[in-house]
Amino acid sequence: MHHVQNSTLLEERLASRNFISEGVPASAFTTQPPEGVTLLPLSWGLPDPDLFPVEPFAEASGRVLRREGRQALQYGGSESVGHLAEWIAQRAAKFGILASGDEVVVTNGSSQAMDLLARLLIDEGDEVWVEAPSYFGALRIFASAGARLRAFPTDGEGLVVEAVREALQEAVAQKRPFPKFFYLMPNYHNPAGCTLSRHRREALADLAQMYGLLLVEDDAYGELRFAPEPLPALKALAPEQTFYMSTFSKTLAPGVRIGWLIGPKGSTRWLRDQKADGATSGLVQAIVAEVLQGFDFDAHVRHLRERYQERRDVLVRGLREALPAEAAFVLPQGGFFVWVTLAQGVDVEHSLPQAVASGVDFVPGGAFHLASDRAHGAGKNSMRLCFSYAPIEHLEDGAHRLGAVLNGLSQTSAR
Ligand SMILES: Cc1ncc(COP(=O)(O)O)c(C=O)c1O
Repeated sequence: MHHVQNSTLLEERLASRNFISEGVPASAFTTQPPEGVTLLPLSWGLPDPDLFPVEPFAEASGRVLRREGRQALQYGGSESVGHLAEWIAQRAAKFGILASGDEVVVTNGSSQAMDLLARLLIDEGDEVWVEAPSYFGALRIFASAGARLRAFPTDGEGLVVEAVREALQEAVAQKRPFPKFFYLMPNYHNPAGCTLSRHRREALADLAQMYGLLLVEDDAYGELRFAPEPLPALKALAPEQTFYMSTFSKTLAPGVRIGWLIGPKGSTRWLRDQKADGATSGLVQAIVAEVLQGFDFDAHVRHLRERYQERRDVLVRGLREALPAEAAFVLPQGGFFVWVTLAQGVDVEHSLPQAVASGVDFVPGGAFHLASDRAHGAGKNSMRLCFSYAPIEHLEDGAHRLGAVLNGLSQTSAR
């Protein structure tokens, strides 16, 4: 009897605390196909595990533990922790970012970087501005800190910066508070696949400086570009207005859970104070630092780019052959994702069970939109397809299966 009462009490407590109305946990997208169907999972946004540098990690782990095990296993870690921050700062210079190792806050993945920013900057009811669509993990983190989110449109050149300019002018005219920050993904957007053009980067950096708008630049995929040269980071264009974050999740392995955050000067101490996890693992940082010392990261990243570009090409070829004529997507210049938009009025969620039954899945676009915009149909006719994870030899076939389902769907909805 007691037992039942306690569990009811707990459920009531959890339900009353559950104010996270935005975003979706990644675990929501583990499709279970029917018996006998082998699924090609285009929904899973994971790196290709064949590209993880397993041997370098195995060797580096042994070397670190034998050489500096006692310090590496202690609170705070060994001096390798400082070496890793230095390495990250030097690498950031390739994107035009000038920072010392002391200004790099190493985090448990860039997810924790978002969490630190939310704790540092968001008070209940504050506005945070994001792109439409946006990364559902970020929406969830900011909403759980009490932010009210407002989304701005994107197109083939990334965020429509003019819409942001208008909103800032309106806030000034109406004497309304500015958002605490604008969160965006300039490179190889998840899910939209787009890249913020150079002139829009410059325009947004100007706006940020003119209005004192803080930018949160999520560069999770920045290293995975298919173009020869990177565009300058927003952090390079408006350093004092921008918090820049990136991660080893897409270049080394997400299992190490190592990301980083570089904020405006003077913010580092405040960010570090928000870390309530007893520090990011010193042992893992030491191992990652050792891996990076022992191998050619540039060559490794070149290899990743070639492999992922090859995967993109195969999927895109299949999509061009098989999707309904009215389907459109931006060719991604890097990263993991293709964002397909179908004809107005199509609801992709209706076709998901049929797609799964024919052996392929996707993430319906609504998952990347705010609940308030979803209620008005945002994302209904879009879907995210991921080319990084499913076996490359089946990607084209997967696109064909998807095309068959969507063509059926277009015909049904036209009737
Ligand atoms: C755009 C974006 N930002 C951040 C993350 C989180 O990455 P991490 O593993 O560093 O927490 C992801 C992961 O998929 C992502 O797609």
